[in-house]
Amino acid sequence: MPDTDAPANPLLVSTRNAHKIGEIRAILGPRFLVSDLASLPDLPEVEETGDTFEENATLKAVAASMLFEGWVIADDSGLEVDALGGAPGVLSARYAGEKANDAANNDLLLRNLLPFRAEERTARFRCVIVLARNGRKLAAFSGTVEGGILGRPRGAGGFGYDPLFVPLGHSESFAQLGSDVKNGMSHRGSALRALAAWNGWG
Ligand code: IMP
Repeated sequence: MPDTDAPANPLLVSTRNAHKIGEIRAILGPRFLVSDLASLPDLPEVEETGDTFEENATLKAVAASMLFEGWVIADDSGLEVDALGGAPGVLSARYAGEKANDAANNDLLLRNLLPFRAEERTARFRCVIVLARNGRKLAAFSGTVEGGILGRPRGAGGFGYDPLFVPLGHSESFAQLGSDVKNGMSHRGSALRALAAWNGWG
């Protein structure tokens, strides 16, 4: 039987993205006491110079774990669209430019997909979570969710490309389905459930 009185594991998430933190808290639940980089204002912005989600998650997790004593995770994630050769991929946050916001990224994606029919607009979200401690990477956990890209945004929930992404087997976008449904099937949900099941928590 799980020990419901066990103290929560303090866990720093190496991000300043409020949407990601909200999802991570909701998915991990009370077993983890989640904080974010607001508690480490001196940590300089980590440049995401890697070619893969795992490389970028590793850069972010290891950098924060050199300044914070305890468990640290970083999430690197994005959207891969088959018709665009896997773009925007690791560049998802900066698809329309270095300082691009979600609306600009979504607009560019819709423009680039104009030549493609609905059945050609297959895509997936991918997430890699890296766990680090004392400057060392300990493990990586990944998750994906398959789906397709709509012709126009639908729904007001979520963040990023959620209004354009319809998960396989559904007819509504992640932004319409609501956070509980999204978290139950999302790339981030799968990666975080694997993290929670890691056998090194003690
Ligand atoms: P990162 O902060 O470098 O990992 O960039 C992640 C980017 O990928 C976000 O800014 C979004 O554009 C996109 N992304 C990742 N996960 C999601 C999601 O769950 N919903 C919508 N967009 C996402």
